[in-house]
Amino acid sequence: MTDTNIHKGLAGVMVDTTRISKVNPDTNSLLYRGYPVQELAAKCSFEEVAYLLWNGELPTDEQLAEFVEGERSQRALTPELKAVIDALPVTCHPMDVCRTAVSVLGAQHPQADESSVLANMQKSVSLFAAMPAVVAYDQRRRRGEDLVEPRDDLDYSSNFLWMTFGEEAAPEVVEAFNVSMILYAEHSFNASTFTGRVITSTLSDLHSAVTGAVGALKGPLHGGANEAVMHTFEEITTSAGEGDVAEHAAGWLDAALADKKKIMGFGHRVYKNGDSRVPTMKASLDKMVKHYDRADLGELYTALESAMGERKNILPNLDYPAGPVYHLMGFDTPTFTPLFVAARITGWTAHIMEQLEANSLIRPLSAYDGPEERHLA
Ligand code: CMC
Repeated sequence: MTDTNIHKGLAGVMVDTTRISKVNPDTNSLLYRGYPVQELAAKCSFEEVAYLLWNGELPTDEQLAEFVEGERSQRALTPELKAVIDALPVTCHPMDVCRTAVSVLGAQHPQADESSVLANMQKSVSLFAAMPAVVAYDQRRRRGEDLVEPRDDLDYSSNFLWMTFGEEAAPEVVEAFNVSMILYAEHSFNASTFTGRVITSTLSDLHSAVTGAVGALKGPLHGGANEAVMHTFEEITTSAGEGDVAEHAAGWLDAALADKKKIMGFGHRVYKNGDSRVPTMKASLDKMVKHYDRADLGELYTALESAMGERKNILPNLDYPAGPVYHLMGFDTPTFTPLFVAARITGWTAHIMEQLEANSLIRPLSAYDGPEERHLA
C-alpha cells in the first residue's frame, strides 16, 4: 500500500533493521553490536572496535594479531595515489582529497567490482588502513612538509599522529585520539551511512558507496560541523572586546541567533536530550586542555555551551568537543572532517556489507507538486 504522507528529511521513518548499532535517544545510549560505546572507548583500541563492527564480536588475541598485521601492511600511500593527491590544488577542501582518494583506491583495487563478503571485507580493511596516510599527507603537503612514512611498530592512533606530525605523540594524546575514533566510528542510519546504503542497494561497488558517503559527510549539518565549531571559536575570540569570555560568547551567540544562524556542534536529529557520546569526548577534551595548558579554550567551550543552553535549550553533539580536541592536538581545522572519515569508514563499510546481506533497492516515492500536464504549442 502506498503511504502518501510526506516524511520530510525522512524524520522519524524506520527504513530497515540493523544489527550494527543501537541509538536510544530516551536513555542517551549508543551500543555498537550490543556494547555501550563509552565502555569500548575506555577499554578498547580502535582496531578492536573496527573488528567488532565488521565481525559482530570483539577479536580474540589471535584474531586481533592477524587483523593488525593485515592493517599495518597496507598503511603506505601507493605512488599512484600520492601522485593523484599531489595533482590536487592545495586550495581544495581536504574532504575533496578524501573523496578522490577513496575513488582512486577503488579504481586500483584488483577486485573492484567483486562484492563477495570476503572481497568487501578485504576492501574495508584496506580503506581503513590507507585513509590515515591520505589525511596525514594532505595536511603535511598543505604546510609544505614532506610525506612521513607509516611505522608498523605503532598502533593505529599512534601511527596516525606520527604520520601527521612526524613525531611520536604523548600517551594521553594517543588515548584521546583513540577515543575520538571510536566515538566517531558508527551511528546507525545517519545521512552519510544512509547514502552508502542507497548506493549499495543498486548493487554498485563498495568504493562507490564510500565515495558517496564522504560527500554526504562533508556538509556542515553532518560531519562538517566539527570544523565549523572551530570557526565559531575563532570568530568569538577575534571579535572579543571588553568583558569576560562568557560575555563574548553570549554576545556572539545572540547576534548569530538574531541572524537565524544554526550554531554548529549543537542539536541532533535523534538525540533531543543530549548526545550519548559527548560526556566521553568532553572528558578527553578536559585532559587535552590540561595537557596543552589551554584553560582559555576550556572556558570558551563552557561559555558557549551555557549560553546556548540558556537561550535555546539545545545541547552539544559530538562535533562540539571533538573540534577543539583536534585543534589542540595540532590538526588544521579543515582536516577535522577527514578525521571523521577515517573513523567512519568502519561503520560505513559494516553497513554496506549488511545492506548486501538482504538487499532491496532503496527507491522512495515523491509527491509531484509541479505544473499540471501541459503541451507544446
Ligand atoms: N542552532 C540553532 N538552532 C537550532 C540548532 C542549532 N544548532 N539545532 C536545532 N535548532 C533549532 C532549529 O532552528 C529549530 O527551531 P524552530 O523550531 O524554531 O525552527 C529547532 O531547533 C529544530 O531544529 P531542526 O533543524 O528542525 O532539527 P533537525 O532535527 O532537523 O536538525 C541538525 C538537526 C543536526 C541538522 C541541527 O540541530 C543542526 O543544524 N545543528 C548544527 C549542525 C551540527 O552540529 N551538525 C552535527 C550533527 S551531529 C554529528 C554528525 O552527524 O555529524
